[in-house]
Parts: sequence; C-alpha cells; structure tokens
Amino acid sequence: MTFATAPGKVILFGEHAVVFGRPALAVPVLQVNATVTVEDREPAQSPSSASWLERISLDAPQVGRSGSLADYPSGPSPDPLAFVIRSVLDALTIEPAWLHIRVDSTIPVASGLGSGAAVSVALIRALSNHLGQPLSDQQVNQIAFEAEKLHHGTPSGIDNTVITYSQPVFFIKGTPIQTFSVGKPFSLLIADSGIPAATRDSVADVRRLWEGDHDRLEVVFSCIGGLVMQARSAIRTGDLVTLGNLMTRNHALLHELTVSSPELDRLVQAALGAGALGAKLSGGGRGGNMLALVQEGDQARVEQALKSAGSRSVLITCLS
Ligand code: PMV
Repeated sequence: MTFATAPGKVILFGEHAVVFGRPALAVPVLQVNATVTVEDREPAQSPSSASWLERISLDAPQVGRSGSLADYPSGPSPDPLAFVIRSVLDALTIEPAWLHIRVDSTIPVASGLGSGAAVSVALIRALSNHLGQPLSDQQVNQIAFEAEKLHHGTPSGIDNTVITYSQPVFFIKGTPIQTFSVGKPFSLLIADSGIPAATRDSVADVRRLWEGDHDRLEVVFSCIGGLVMQARSAIRTGDLVTLGNLMTRNHALLHELTVSSPELDRLVQAALGAGALGAKLSGGGRGGNMLALVQEGDQARVEQALKSAGSRSVLITCLS
C-alpha cells in the first residue's frame, strides 16, 4: 500500500488579480490535508477481458464517488479525479495491474482552502510512487494545474503551486516559483463563513466585469498588485501593523471586484472590531474563508467575535 498527503492553502494577498498577471502571496495550511492510498487488489474478472479503466477502482467518500474508473465521465468534461489518474498513467506510459485508490480529505470543499488541488497532488504522488516511478515536483505541479482547469476554468496556477511545493509562495502566473521570507512570526485566524462558493463562478464573473470595463478593472488589479509587493516587504521586516492595514485594503478592492458577500464583510468587520490588525476574504470569495491577522493576546477575543458573527469554524495558523 502506498500513501501520500498534501496540505491545504490560503491566499494571503492578490487573489483574482493574479489571474490577470499580478503577483500574489500564498502559504500552505498544514492543519488540514488530503490523503490518498493506493493498493493492489484482487482481479474482479478475467484479467485479459478487463480494460485498464475497469482495473482501477476509486473511493472518494467526501465527494460521493465510488466505483470503477470505467464508470467516470470522460470526453470534454472529464471527472477531475479520473483525469488525474489518466494523466499520471500517460506520463508513466504504464498499464497498471488491478488497483484500488481511496481519497480522503479534511479540507472543506469550495471554501478557498485548495481542496481540489490538494487531492490532485496527493493522488499524483501516491499513484506514481505506488507504480515505482515517482514524478518530479514540476511534473506533479503540471498535472495538478491541468486538473485545476477542470475545477476552476481559467486558474492562475497558484493553488497547485503552493500545495505541490508546500512552502510560502510569491506567485506570478507563468514564472518560476519564488518563495518569501518571514521576518517575525505571525498568527492568522482562518474563519469559515460556512457558505460554499465555486471559484469557477467568481473567476468567470470577474472576467466578465473586466471585459465590460477593462480600464477600471486593470487599475483595480494593479492596486492589488501594489499591495502584494508592500505586503511581501512588511512580512520580511515583521511590520505587522502595516501588514494588517494592507489586508483590509485588499479586502476593500476584492469587494470592488464583487467577490465579497454580506457574510464575509460581516466577519471582516467583526474581526477588526475585536482588535485584529487586518482582515480580508481569501480565495475565490462570495463565501468560503476569510483571514484575520491577530496579535497573540487578541486571538481568543477575535476568534469569539468571528464565531458570534456566524463563522462555522476557526483555524489558527502561525507563519514563521
Ligand atoms: O481556489 P481558491 O478559491 O482559493 O481561489 C483561487 C484564487 C483565484 O485567484 C480566485 C483564482 C486563481 O486561479 O488564482
């Protein structure tokens, strides 16, 4: 049996603008993860009469999938899990024997924590390792990016990159991975609005806005890009007051892009009212998670305020 795991992630700054070529900052979240196990199984029928699709069975209880790969949709809109398995086998040019694959995840779906990318990365690694031909990080990242297109339409590639490399990432679409340094450890509360929202929809809506009002949207994207650069240096120098301020300004610009929601705005206001240094939505928006930057003594108060304002759950993550 072979096992692989991949973390969740949050985008600290720059979501949406990153799709249009601006920089963004993201970090892995190790408190949640996707795990995949691959094991050989007994042939269910005469091996010669079974196609390779029939030889692989897949269980993914969190997304309600169970059965032979032959039963999964293929063609122009394939199932992302089946797509990843096919892509790995194509990359290895291998016809596997009888396999059973199980996918589990503690990352909430459609909440901006990278559940789709984490499942892809864990699946690619577990399968290629099990078949004795581990893929390089670059190959893992490339296959996970192709799967992200099925989830998100026109993704920037930030989710699969931060999850594949499991390190803080300063990301610009189409350029080699860069990391960033943290001058002084800081804590973030990650609060779930409890509202699932498809990143594919918010990304498509922002694109439509951009098509209809190109010049204004380009200005908003560039303002967000400017905040990302300032945030990277505030993180490097450990200037948490400035960092918090930049987060709240990034949230206002995301609001202008129409990707916030009354629930997310309420959580941001609650965090700021309880003493957070800054707060913003994270990821695709419209629902999902938001972040609050908190100083050590304020954690419990801000967490309580977030829960009172409707957050379903709050995670604490420390960047150091
Ligand atoms: O997967 P999410 O919801 O964290 O959002 C990804 C971030 C976006 O910038 C909205 C889309 C992208 O592909 O970069």
